[in-house]
Amino acid sequence: MRCAPTSEATLDNKMLSRREFVLGASAALGVVGAVRPLPSWGSDEGPAIPDKDGMIVRSLRFLDLEMPVEYANSFITPVEHFFVRNHMHEPSTLDPGEWRLSIGGEVEKRLTLTLAELRKMEQHTVINTLECAGNGRAYAIPHVPGVQWEKGAVGTARFTGPRLRYLLERAEVRPTGKHVMFRGLDEVPGKVPRFIRSIPIEKATDGDTLVALEMNGAALTKHHGFPARALVPGWIGAASCKWLTEIKVLDKEFEGNFMSPGYRMPNQPVKAGEAVKVENTHPATALNVKSLIASPRDSASVKSRVIQVQGVAWAGEADIAKVEVSTDSGVTWQPARLGKEQSHYAWRLWSRSWNAPKPGAYTIMSRATDTQGRVQPDSVQWNPSGYLINIVDRVQIHVQP
Ligand code: MTE
Repeated sequence: MRCAPTSEATLDNKMLSRREFVLGASAALGVVGAVRPLPSWGSDEGPAIPDKDGMIVRSLRFLDLEMPVEYANSFITPVEHFFVRNHMHEPSTLDPGEWRLSIGGEVEKRLTLTLAELRKMEQHTVINTLECAGNGRAYAIPHVPGVQWEKGAVGTARFTGPRLRYLLERAEVRPTGKHVMFRGLDEVPGKVPRFIRSIPIEKATDGDTLVALEMNGAALTKHHGFPARALVPGWIGAASCKWLTEIKVLDKEFEGNFMSPGYRMPNQPVKAGEAVKVENTHPATALNVKSLIASPRDSASVKSRVIQVQGVAWAGEADIAKVEVSTDSGVTWQPARLGKEQSHYAWRLWSRSWNAPKPGAYTIMSRATDTQGRVQPDSVQWNPSGYLINIVDRVQIHVQP
């Protein structure tokens, strides 16, 4: 399901009429002949539809866009190729002059900050690979409900803004402050619970956790949380709340749908299809070790026998130690060369040149190992929500005679 590339008009400014939206949506879905119910909007205007770049549309009701895995070929992902994950509607109106960020709860001094004040503070940059916890869910067998992300709910960007630690220091967190809650300005349809989550104070006060104002050197776009988002590096994307407007220090973990039952992992490995009681789970936090093959493309039919296998690998709060490539369906593995560009929390590019011995069909696989000794498994570690799936990646290609 790909959006047909269209004009260069910016994503954030272009609003389509309902009719244009309906046509666009059916065109996007029509590629695979899928019939989906049309989303219901109160007005004539749907969301701004991304205008180009062949992103895979997973949902238009609440915008969910996946990056085709072939785009995982650069250290920094261009914003227009960066996946989008929205649980609800983006804020329809947001005046940066009126916008405020409040900091309260278990603090001595409540703060209310303007965007101009945040911009004047010392800015810190973190290059972070952001991945949705559900990336790879489509590979869970049996099927689990949720957005059926394949490989591309992940991207790497340079995020800039004041350290959250600095704001918390200014607010003077009381000793009772143990967790930090984020609330965004999403528009909540009907009885859907608000997207509110919290992170422990230790992660909130880590020097790399930000209130990010910029992505890749420019103001955040609307899809990525303008004017400010939390950036919790190395952790599942859900920790990094967009359209941030309230930070509240709590004496315990926030209790709400997106903390429980949402975004939880079983304490022990479970059998595929097995139900897990919530008391036997914990919140999903740091990302797994994982690699993806960006090239050659799955199902590619290639003319040359000299093939450059390349992709990306990341490991959340750990670093990548090595990536191995197999060109014989996992029987033997050879080391890939890691790219020079590196930054803690960011993926590494990797590559390996391979000469196919003869024409025919091949399965190429990639497997990453990180500095904590974690290795990608060769089968899906199934869990009821399909989170943190990091099976070794594989593509099948045909080398032409
Ligand atoms: N923040 C708000 N306010 N609302 C959301 O729906 N989605 C979260 C997170 N922050 C979300 C949010 C999830 S699940 C992910 S994976 C990341 O945003 C995705 O960030 P992106 O859309 O900038 O790629």
